[in-house]
Amino acid sequence: MLVHTSAVAVLKLKNLELTAVEGSDVHVRMLAAPVNPSDINMIQGNYGLLPKLPAVGGNEGVGQVVAVGSSVSRLKPGDWVIPASAGLGTWRTEAVFSEETLIGIPKDIPLQSAATLGVNPCTAYRMLVDFEQLQPGDSVIQNASNSGVGQAVIQIASALRLKTINVVRDRPDIQKLTDRLKNLGADYVLTEEELRIPETKNIFKDLPLPRLALNCVGGKSSTELLRHLAPGGTMVTYGGMAKQPVTASVSLLIFKDLRLRGFWLSQWKKNHSSDEFKELILTLCDFIRQGQLTAPACSEVPLQDYQQALEASMKPFVSAKQILTM
Ligand SMILES: NC(=O)c1ccc[n+]([C@@H]2O[C@H](COP(=O)([O-])OP(=O)(O)OC[C@H]3O[C@@H](n4cnc5c(N)ncnc54)[C@H](OP(=O)(O)O)[C@@H]3O)[C@@H](O)[C@H]2O)c1
Repeated sequence: MLVHTSAVAVLKLKNLELTAVEGSDVHVRMLAAPVNPSDINMIQGNYGLLPKLPAVGGNEGVGQVVAVGSSVSRLKPGDWVIPASAGLGTWRTEAVFSEETLIGIPKDIPLQSAATLGVNPCTAYRMLVDFEQLQPGDSVIQNASNSGVGQAVIQIASALRLKTINVVRDRPDIQKLTDRLKNLGADYVLTEEELRIPETKNIFKDLPLPRLALNCVGGKSSTELLRHLAPGGTMVTYGGMAKQPVTASVSLLIFKDLRLRGFWLSQWKKNHSSDEFKELILTLCDFIRQGQLTAPACSEVPLQDYQQALEASMKPFVSAKQILTM
């Protein structure tokens, strides 16, 4: 676990001077910020976006506006804000940010939902609607279904009346996890091993073959997702948790004309305006208010115990998002 240890070892709690609040500045008190795999990848130096060093860790989270500069028009003291894009450095108690780096969000949603709203549910929603034109009753297959993204996929798909086939890694308490995902709206929960056995095909007597597969893992797991896709279907890769390449069978590509695509929310944000991002956030807040989208299973950890949170976030089978509280 050398890589893991070093990812934690390079982090330190430091006192930084706050700059004066002027012009377009916004003084924010951070409330809560999750530890996501991309935060760890960024610290390890193998993410698509790397900050100048030294840097403050954390790409996601929610804060409350304390004061604003004279030219700030969209935010006022008391508002809740989340980062407009990755790289803001959210693992801190307070900071002075520029207005355009923040998005105001409604305050009538639970704090854990707000802290985890800006990355995983956005990714889940975009992948469900942007790649295939799915209709109610259509099915979607995904792996790492207990991940933050996976839990959002289950819930948003259920709200859109799509059926989900959810693959997870086997574990001693698999029934507990299966029940939890079914409570979120999962139609089928299978282990990676179950997905490989021929009987799994029986599911598709009652269900159309999925036209969309969401791949968070890579390696053999993604090869299996492809085997179950409908002809002409699309597999969207958005994570590589197994650190193994996607291997696609030549015959499946030729005879089923499957499409392999990728998704990166940071790129989606670059290609879309901040108003479009805000609209996406408001759509997700509607799901939250209607009880259709809850925060992922979480463990709250005080910021000063960040080492414990980071270590827990890198352990397998934890099934709980670590959220730093300030
Ligand atoms: N492309 C994008 O825009 C985008 C946006 C958001 C997230 N992501 C990516 O999506 C992935 C999930 O993020 P998250 O925040 O949802 O994660 P998370 O809540 O921390 O969950 C991690 C998931 O990965 C699984 N996992 C860990 N190691 C694995 C391995 N070796 N093989 C198979 N599965 C493994 C875990 O399953 P167990 O319970 O079995 O350990 C768990 O389901 C990350 O790679 C993240 O970078 C990408």
